[in-house]
Amino acid sequence: MHYFRYAGSSLCCEEVPVAELVRRHGTPLYVYSQRTLTEHYEKLDRALAPVDHLVCFAMKSNSNQAVLHTLARLGGGFDIVSEGELRRAIAAGAEPGKCVFAGVGKTEAEIKYALQQGVYAFNVESEPELQRINRVAGSLKKTAPVALRVNPNVDAHTHAKITTGTYENKFGIAFEEVAGVYARAAKLKHLRLRGVQMHIGSQLTSVAPFEEAVRKVLPLVTELRDRHGLEFFSIGGGLGIVYNPALESAKPAFWKSAAGREILTPALYAERLLPLLQPLGLRILLEPGRFISGNAGILVTRIEYVKQTGRKNFLIVDAAMNDLIRPAFYDAYHEIVPLEKKRGKPVSSDVVGPVCESGDYFAKDRPLPRLGEGDCLALLSAGAYGSVMGSNYNTRPLPAEVLVHGTKSALVRARQPVAEIWAGEQRAPWQR
Ligand code: LLP
Repeated sequence: MHYFRYAGSSLCCEEVPVAELVRRHGTPLYVYSQRTLTEHYEKLDRALAPVDHLVCFAMKSNSNQAVLHTLARLGGGFDIVSEGELRRAIAAGAEPGKCVFAGVGKTEAEIKYALQQGVYAFNVESEPELQRINRVAGSLKKTAPVALRVNPNVDAHTHAKITTGTYENKFGIAFEEVAGVYARAAKLKHLRLRGVQMHIGSQLTSVAPFEEAVRKVLPLVTELRDRHGLEFFSIGGGLGIVYNPALESAKPAFWKSAAGREILTPALYAERLLPLLQPLGLRILLEPGRFISGNAGILVTRIEYVKQTGRKNFLIVDAAMNDLIRPAFYDAYHEIVPLEKKRGKPVSSDVVGPVCESGDYFAKDRPLPRLGEGDCLALLSAGAYGSVMGSNYNTRPLPAEVLVHGTKSALVRARQPVAEIWAGEQRAPWQR
């Protein structure tokens, strides 16, 4: 579900023709829909209404100030993974008391900053981390709220690079060891055992792995709640989105859930999980990223050249793997549509960027209308893990970003000035 639709033959974001945004801001351009962000957040929030809960947006998926502010105003919390993210969230209006600090490698400086700001909890990934947090909290004369991340050893059946809940992964504390670690943690003076957390992977398109993981950890959570007086249980993020509505035959392996075709909706998620969670009487936390931001953004790019090689019809566009790395990195599928609808027979095309790597592509053998130089394309579902994973590879400036709200639009990130890319560099003293 999203608000990128054709009005007549022109693709619009909410009420604004995307071509108009391109005229004003150029390409490559990220465009976000505030209504889509809001509705996704609200759907989850409503689905969890029967229990005390907090939706903490995983801001690693999209950390633009305007996006964060939209969610902060709705009352959302944030899942942060670095001091930088916490600073960003606070700058966007987030309440630190609604932020959970995740990640396997928190530094002392990051822990200190997060304690000073008063985060809701640290999601702790190892025993050495627990000891470090205890030590830093002691030095600040504070008590650190912590939750241990349980690794339930459940296969999420998603892409190998984003599955996190098995013992092959670096994440969390093994299910069998968790009770012992809590018992030792309870003896550390500067910690408050506030909750328990898990996250099994990203882009899960079926509710079954969530259910399996919750069922598996439930007795443990109950025991920990009773023994240590826990306040919350975070079931992580990972709710998948539809990248390819045409599916099923076009559905790449990345997308397929082993459990089949059941589409994951907040209602189904709640229907299956709430009966298990409700009796716990704990506050339930969720850390969704992609579900909220994924379909709320597109990347718009202009065709620079059409190159016909006899075997292939290449559309060489002005966006590249440095702007959106998902196809190159995960073989991910992004739907691609022209800004102006065209008639005629589709042509099988490869949409590629200008970077000198064959991995720099957005689509291969994709049926697209016959398009020419100067025509623009939209890569859909680029709101999550798009801009945030951008880089300056090939000294390419980061794209501009626009937020749309009804008939209004605003530049929410200026295109990076090219000289800024090397501004922090200098010659060595002996070269001056
Ligand atoms: N909580 C934890 C502990 C996580 O590691 C993640 C994502 C999330 C929540 C949010 O997951 P989500 O709801 O967005 O699925 N770059 C990859 C995705 C990496 C996900 C990393 N962890 C991609 O483009 O598909």
